[in-house]
Amino acid sequence: MPIVSIIGPKGGIGKTTLSINTAAALTRAFQKRGSHDRVCLVDLDLRLPTISSILDSHPQKTFYDLFETLANKTYQVDYLQTLYRIVSTFKNYLAGEVAVNSRQLAKCFSLYKALGTNLFQYSQFKYGNQIYDLFLERGNIERVSRVKHLEPILAQINVLEFKAILGDIQKNSRPFVEEYVNFIEEYGFSIIGGEVPVLGKKSHRKRINEPAFLVLFLEFLNEVYERFEYVMLDTPAGGVGHISSLMNSIDQVILVFDMSNSIAINGSLDALHSFIDYYEDFYQDFTHDRLTGLDKAYVNRLTAAKGHQAIAETLKNKKIGLFFNRCQEAEEIPDCLERLREYLDTLDKYEQYKNRIHIVGMMPQHRIINITNNRGALFYDKDRALKDRMDLMAEAIISENQSTPTLSSSESEILRYLERKGKPGLVARIGRLASSFS
Ligand SMILES: Nc1ncnc2c1ncn2[C@@H]1O[C@H](COP(=O)(O)OP(=O)(O)OP(=O)(O)O)[C@@H](O)[C@H]1O
Ligand SMILES: [Mg+2]
Repeated sequence: MPIVSIIGPKGGIGKTTLSINTAAALTRAFQKRGSHDRVCLVDLDLRLPTISSILDSHPQKTFYDLFETLANKTYQVDYLQTLYRIVSTFKNYLAGEVAVNSRQLAKCFSLYKALGTNLFQYSQFKYGNQIYDLFLERGNIERVSRVKHLEPILAQINVLEFKAILGDIQKNSRPFVEEYVNFIEEYGFSIIGGEVPVLGKKSHRKRINEPAFLVLFLEFLNEVYERFEYVMLDTPAGGVGHISSLMNSIDQVILVFDMSNSIAINGSLDALHSFIDYYEDFYQDFTHDRLTGLDKAYVNRLTAAKGHQAIAETLKNKKIGLFFNRCQEAEEIPDCLERLREYLDTLDKYEQYKNRIHIVGMMPQHRIINITNNRGALFYDKDRALKDRMDLMAEAIISENQSTPTLSSSESEILRYLERKGKPGLVARIGRLASSFS
């Protein structure tokens, strides 16, 4: 389940276009060996998801539904668990099984006094009325011993039944990946994510900063990862705070390098620098066990799956793929490579990164890509030359860059590689690679 993130600093530089078409290229590689529905494209643009409308394919459930499910059901479960703890302890106290000065009762009493009730949906719970009455009485219960006054209300609650209801809700609070995965017959890959801007809703904007909530989101994504051979993450320009560790995914990162003009090239150089900074901070925090929140949860998951040593190695030798987009003519590439090398040299990072920055592909400024009707976005099956370029990118991904040139390769080697378009047998070759790497 390698996860590939397509990242870039700015809007409109081709991240989504490349993610979609790379997904198509990877899909063809797997179809060659008779394997289907192995590739998933995830729209991590939570501000402005676009993939489902570009591909005119509308998932049954989107990330918006997922956030609602995780928030409502899970917060509901947490809430009910707390209520259960309060009710059962109070009842035990009334039955003489818990002492008035016990820590357990003191804790439940302070929970009872402090618990926010606005999220709880009373009407959906069998003992909703009794819970409502319990909280109405809060103002009259100033001390632990006054809990006795709650006896008539507590007597109406059967704790065994409460526990059984809680168990049922817990069982149903997991979102089912299948409801969110949308397989597109025509393209042969699945998409997941978008349609409604998740971050358009205030409570969701808040949740994106809550590590506890993000861990649930991560658990869900993890189930998605396990279901597919390759997962492409299309990411928003500039990133989304706490999901940056996902976007800068440990498996493979491809930075879209905008070659439109000189200013764009400078911006892309800067983006590479920012990425390296991010990565180095992340690596330092990893080695010193300082990761927090989602970053920590993400790495813990990976460590559990692949072992600490393997993750440490991958991080230490992290490779970065560069994809040059919107090139005007081939001569620009050597120029750009030279600027890249100089730039890294002035930062004293060239030696450290020259063999880790791979050149994974290029795409010229192309009329076909700009077709405005939605379906034009998948150019993979429509233009042979573009298709070959995407196959090259898929080959780089599948082979984990084993045969891609790096910044330290010679100009001619890099150009030869990038110009390998239209070479017969490329699809068959990546099909074979797909077999040997899975
Ligand atoms: N090589 C190219 N030649 C011509 N047009 C291109 C090329 N690459 C991308 N485009 C066009 O540029 C526009 C923006 O591309 P895209 O939506 O993929 O960018 P993005 O980086 O995902 O943007 P955002 O950050 O807003 O999500 C699209 O209309 C796309 O068709
Ligand atoms: Mg996009």
